[in-house]
Amino acid sequence: MRTILVGGQFGDEGKGKIASYLAVSDSPEIVARGGVGPNAGHTVQFDGKKYGLRMLPCGINNPKSRIMIGAGVVVDPGVLEKEVELTGTRGRVFVDRRCTVITAEHKEADAAAALSAKIGTTKTGCGPAVASRAARNATLAQDEPLLEGFVTDVPAAVNRAKDVLVEGSQGFMLSVLYGTYPFVTSKDVSASSVAADVGLGPTSIDHVIMIIKSYTTRVGNGPFRDEIPVEEAEKLGFQEYGTVTGRPRRTSKGLHWEDLKFAAMVNGATQVAVTKMDVRFPGNAGVRDYAKLTSGAREFVEKIERELSVPVTLIGTGPDAKDIVDRRKELL
Ligand code: GTP
Ligand code: IMP
Ligand code: MG
Repeated sequence: MRTILVGGQFGDEGKGKIASYLAVSDSPEIVARGGVGPNAGHTVQFDGKKYGLRMLPCGINNPKSRIMIGAGVVVDPGVLEKEVELTGTRGRVFVDRRCTVITAEHKEADAAAALSAKIGTTKTGCGPAVASRAARNATLAQDEPLLEGFVTDVPAAVNRAKDVLVEGSQGFMLSVLYGTYPFVTSKDVSASSVAADVGLGPTSIDHVIMIIKSYTTRVGNGPFRDEIPVEEAEKLGFQEYGTVTGRPRRTSKGLHWEDLKFAAMVNGATQVAVTKMDVRFPGNAGVRDYAKLTSGAREFVEKIERELSVPVTLIGTGPDAKDIVDRRKELL
């Protein structure tokens, strides 16, 4: 089975938690990362440990899976080294030889006012690195001495493997093609691009899981419907802070249905995962059985299914990877 995970909103939908659950429950041979680069921030929590990851995919928690970063991802060798050390994954982490390397100059350019103040970028050098690649003056991973021990051929590996979990990053509304341009990230982050990032063709994908959060958040500038003030978000328990930048996230109470329908269509979503259901609907913390969710929570799930015409197969009910209702056996 080859499955792609993508974010359906503005990033931070809780991809980290869903990916780490799937890595353990499905035990894929390879967990591969597509998407942009270390601008992403994923929080992975399992067995009482908590990791903030930017470069590695989140499915690191199954020691049987090889971990790969696809050619489309821009790589910061320093961030990669730190995360490999932190997670104890040395020896099973690989980077495609064609990945673009982020340099100190890219980070400086990203922090310059023109980009960081206008767009509210993460200053991680991702946008300028992607621009260098397009300008054809980027350094590739195969030519970077700091990446020597990591370099491999990711397309060959993922096409050989039967079970692959591919993680995108950011969210559809931040896509440079389909999002709220110019307040977007530097690449398209929809499922087709994520597949290309790791070297998988569109016909080789079995499932696309679009992850959404039960309310909407956005970090950085740009249009955002039905935004509520920080105080109100705090009261509702919705207020969040960025993993990479520590910035307070902007909050909108509900789901943006038209955007989500468009996202499900362009991503070709075959499943939806909804996270933080326990936050939006108290009384559901730690529930793992669909029948045990409150009726309010179940009605919300049914509304998502009606609006998007996609089954909601995974439902997050707490911060740990295991706090989840998995309906895949019943619904697929
Ligand atoms: P992605 O960028 O999509 O990976 O999301 P994220 O990891 O950036 O989100 P963030 O850094 O805000 O972390 C989310 C936090 O919420 C983590 O501590 C998760 O363990 C936690 N979380 C994820 N899903 C759920 C859920 O369903 N319920 C609760 N209560 N917490 C969750
Ligand atoms: P950049 O990707 O660093 O160039 O930032 C461009 C925009 O995308 C900014 O508004 C960022 O806040 C936003 N962004 C980039 N990556 C993420 C992410 O992983 N989660 C949420 N927002 C992101
Ligand atoms: Mg995040």
